[in-house]
Amino acid sequence: MWRKWTPPGPGSSHERMRRAPDVSGLVCGTCGLRLPAGSPRLQCACGGLLEAQPSSSLRGRRLRAAFDRRLAGDPAGQGSGVWRFRELLLPGRGALVSHPEGNTNLYRRDAVSRWAGVADLALKHEGENPTGSFKDRGMTVAVTQAVRAGATALACASTGNTSASLAAYAAQAGVPALVFIPRAKVAPGKLAQALCYGAHVLEVRADFDECLRLVREASSELGLTLLNSVNPWRIEGQKTIVLEMLQQRGWEPPDWIMVPAGNLGNTAAFGKALVEARERGLISRLPRIAAIQAAGAAPFYHSFRAGFRRRFRVRAETVATAIRIGDPVSYERAARAIRQTRGVVAAVSDREILAAKAVIDGAGIGCEPASAASLAGLRQLVRRGIVGRRDSVVAVLTGHLLKDPHVTRAKPVPIAPRLAEVERILKGIR
Ligand code: F0G
Repeated sequence: MWRKWTPPGPGSSHERMRRAPDVSGLVCGTCGLRLPAGSPRLQCACGGLLEAQPSSSLRGRRLRAAFDRRLAGDPAGQGSGVWRFRELLLPGRGALVSHPEGNTNLYRRDAVSRWAGVADLALKHEGENPTGSFKDRGMTVAVTQAVRAGATALACASTGNTSASLAAYAAQAGVPALVFIPRAKVAPGKLAQALCYGAHVLEVRADFDECLRLVREASSELGLTLLNSVNPWRIEGQKTIVLEMLQQRGWEPPDWIMVPAGNLGNTAAFGKALVEARERGLISRLPRIAAIQAAGAAPFYHSFRAGFRRRFRVRAETVATAIRIGDPVSYERAARAIRQTRGVVAAVSDREILAAKAVIDGAGIGCEPASAASLAGLRQLVRRGIVGRRDSVVAVLTGHLLKDPHVTRAKPVPIAPRLAEVERILKGIR
């Protein structure tokens, strides 16, 4: 674990906070410590992860109506597809650090459905967020909270997308950002974003897991505000992928949700969103979550196969560098999400990932390799008889095609500037 926890003495500030009556704050999933929602503390001393508890008591039809009304216009939420769901996010009022984000599309394409083997399939494209990945949804909430708590420097470890997103939101907030990335393992689109938005990019001679360990240490020792999904407000924002999808479907849940899984923040956020949505009467049944890992980076899959009785750690390798993670930090809460939704975990090879990407790209939608894991996983689960051909499925595409511009199947065809050359090429096409 992260750091050993020594029990606090009587009357210590740790103990006083545990007894605090605030029910709408943060709770440690491991030791039960409670903190007020506005706390600048983002990690529990026991090493457990903090989780937010939503404050609003609105429920059912009234809550749905509030969310639906805002589709027509929502000045208080700045038109954001995240802040539209504010009753289930961050309590308190104040300025938002919002681009805005969210409002991503659900795509249906016959060719993609046919390839997967499921007629009722929609792709929710989170690559349509401002910096090209789902990370913006968590970042708007977590950076808003960090600014409210008086943060002076923001930091994250990243396989690329988190750093691009943090860099953009930190720039908007006017707070410096430090990003820790594994050397030579971040796709060029993502690295360019972090640099252009002005983050201090630290290339660490280590893998992602080691970068995350370092930034967690740096944030508790050096006062940096941690913006990885260890930060509970990131998870809160990411819940809105599911909430927005449910709203787009008229609050009718699909049978399955497919999500690419690396550090497992999204898997955890999806489970939390679904359980809260059912508790609040937004939906009456839970879809099943299928978390899809790359076979070369599949510790969660191995744990699932062992009935979650054992936690695995691996040395990760995959073409999908976004999910090249061997020791996922949200392991416990993602396992809970899988259990609560009667979900499954699958692993797909790089070949399967690239084949799925070619289908998504070929349908004119496009995504980065890690995103295609969700479609590859769906096809595999259909073939294994776990997902039914008549089931309704939403597969989440987590990042934009341009993030990993070097991962292409085809190459440009060099020609001389002569009509005959064009004619020759055309013969091979028509
Ligand atoms: N897809 C993409 C495109 C990602 O960038 C990530 C994670 C995931 C899926 C996996 O999500 O970690 O919540 O299970 N990227 C992180 C990063 C690790 O640093 O950008 P997860």
